[in-house]
Amino acid sequence: MSGNTNAKADLLAKLESRSATIAIIGLGYVGLPLAVEFAKAGLRVIGYDVSKRLVDALKKGQSHVQDVSAADVAAVVKSGRFTPTTDEAMLAEADAISIAVPTPLVKTRDPDMSFVIAAAAAIGRHAHPGMVIVLESTTYPGTTREVLLPLLTERGLVVGHDVFLAFSPERVDPGNPVYQTTNTPKVVGGITPACTEVATALYSICIQSIVEVSSPEAAELVKLLENTFRSVNIGLVNEMAIVCDKLGVDVWEVIDAAATKPFGFMKFTPGPGIGGHCIPLDPHYLAWKMRTLNYKTRFIDLASEINTQMPAYVVEKVTHALNGARKAVNGSRILVLGVAYKRDIKDVRESPALDVIRLLQDQGADVAFHDPHVSAIREDGHELAGIALSAKELDAADAVVIVTDHRAVDYQFVVDHARLVIDSRNATAGLSSSKARIVRLSGTTSEPPVAARA
Ligand SMILES: NC(=O)c1ccc[n+]([C@@H]2O[C@H](COP(=O)([O-])OP(=O)(O)OC[C@H]3O[C@@H](n4cnc5c(N)ncnc54)[C@H](O)[C@@H]3O)[C@@H](O)[C@H]2O)c1
Repeated sequence: MSGNTNAKADLLAKLESRSATIAIIGLGYVGLPLAVEFAKAGLRVIGYDVSKRLVDALKKGQSHVQDVSAADVAAVVKSGRFTPTTDEAMLAEADAISIAVPTPLVKTRDPDMSFVIAAAAAIGRHAHPGMVIVLESTTYPGTTREVLLPLLTERGLVVGHDVFLAFSPERVDPGNPVYQTTNTPKVVGGITPACTEVATALYSICIQSIVEVSSPEAAELVKLLENTFRSVNIGLVNEMAIVCDKLGVDVWEVIDAAATKPFGFMKFTPGPGIGGHCIPLDPHYLAWKMRTLNYKTRFIDLASEINTQMPAYVVEKVTHALNGARKAVNGSRILVLGVAYKRDIKDVRESPALDVIRLLQDQGADVAFHDPHVSAIREDGHELAGIALSAKELDAADAVVIVTDHRAVDYQFVVDHARLVIDSRNATAGLSSSKARIVRLSGTTSEPPVAARA
C-alpha cells in the first residue's frame, strides 16, 4: 500500500547505524535476555508485557530470569535504552518487533495459540510500513504464514516490500554457562527473501552467527526437530533404563561405555522424566499439526508415553525399596531432593518432581523436599515449602529420592546420613555409604555394611 519503495533500504540503514527501535513482546525466559542483548548492542528497546507486576519489577532493575543479572537489567533501564511497558500503543514506535510469548498446551495436549494470537492482534493494530516482525515462540509449522501474515495484509501492507515477516526460533538453554543468546547460532526463515535478509540484519546486531533457511515453515520445523530429537532420545534411554533394570545391568555403565565411541553415538541420560516448557510440549505442536493432516507421528507419541511414565516408575522404585525395609509408602516420611526440572536451575515448570511428589502423596506419604534453588512449590492452590538439608532430616526420612541432581548438594553427606536413597540421576555414582542402602533407577543397589543395617 505504502508506495514506500525504500522500506527495506531504510530499515537496513537504521539497523546498520543502530538507530532502530525494537519492541520485544513477552519478557520471559526468552524475551528478557533478547531485550537486554539488543539494548547492550545500542538499540532502543521497548519491552512490552501484559504483566504489570513484571514490568514494574523490571523498571526497578530486578530480573526474574536466572541467566540475566539484575545489574544488567538495571544498567539498560537506567541508560534509557530499555523501556519495559504494559502500553501496547508503544509498539507503533518500533522498527522491529520480536514476539516471545508463551505457547503452552491445553489439557487435551492441543496447542494453546491464544497468546500468539493476542500478540499478533496487537501488532495488527500498530504495524506500519518499514517494520520487521519476527515470531520467536515455538509453534507448529504454518503459524507465521497463517496467523501473522493475514493481519498485515488486511492492513494493506505488502509483506516483503512494506513490511518484513519471519520466524526465528529461540534456542536459549537456561543455566548453560557456555551457550547464551549472543553465541548460539540463530535460524531465520522469512516469508520472502527480503524478509529473511532484513531479519538476518536485525539479529546480526547481537548474535554472532545467523543461519538462513528458505521459509518460515522450515524455521518453525527446525525448532520442532531439535526438541523432538531430544524427547525421542531421552525416551530411548529411559526405556533402556527399564530394560537394564529387568536384566540387572547398570544402565549408566552401558551409556558411559557407549559414549566412548568417537562417532555415531550421542550421549543422553535417563531420569525421572522430562520437564520445562520446551521438550515435553514442543513435539506435541508437530503431532497436533500432523493429526490435522491425518498423519500420526509415532516417534513423538511413543517418546512422550515413555517419558511421562517415568515419574510413576520412580515411585514404583520407592515402593519396592520401602517394601524391602518392611515399610509402606502410606505413612512414610519421604524426602525429595531437587524439584527443578533440571540441574542447577530454579524453574519447576512441568518438572517430573511435581508428579513424583503428587503420586507419593496420593499413596499417603508424608513428603518434604529440599532444593537449593527452589524455596517453595505451588500446585493446584497448595503450597509446599522446602526444608533445609540436615543430618536430622535425612535420618528422619524413611526414603530420600534424588529427582534433580543439583551440583550444590553434597551427596556424600546424603548417603552418610540417610537410611534409604532412591537415586534417579546417578548422583551417588562412585560414592560408598556407611549407612544408606542406595537403589538406582536401573535396579542396581548398593548395600551398606552388614553392621550398619540394624
Ligand atoms: N524457556 C525456554 O527455555 C525456551 C526456550 C526456547 C523457546 N521457548 C519458547 O519461547 C516462547 C516464550 O517462552 P518463555 O519461556 O520466555 O515464556 P515465559 O512464560 O517465561 O514468558 C512469556 C511472557 O509473555 C508475556 N505475555 C503473554 N501474553 C502476552 C501478550 N499478549 N502480550 C505481551 N506479553 C505477553 C507473559 O506475561 C510472560 O511474561 C514459548 O513459545 C517457548 O516455547 C522457550
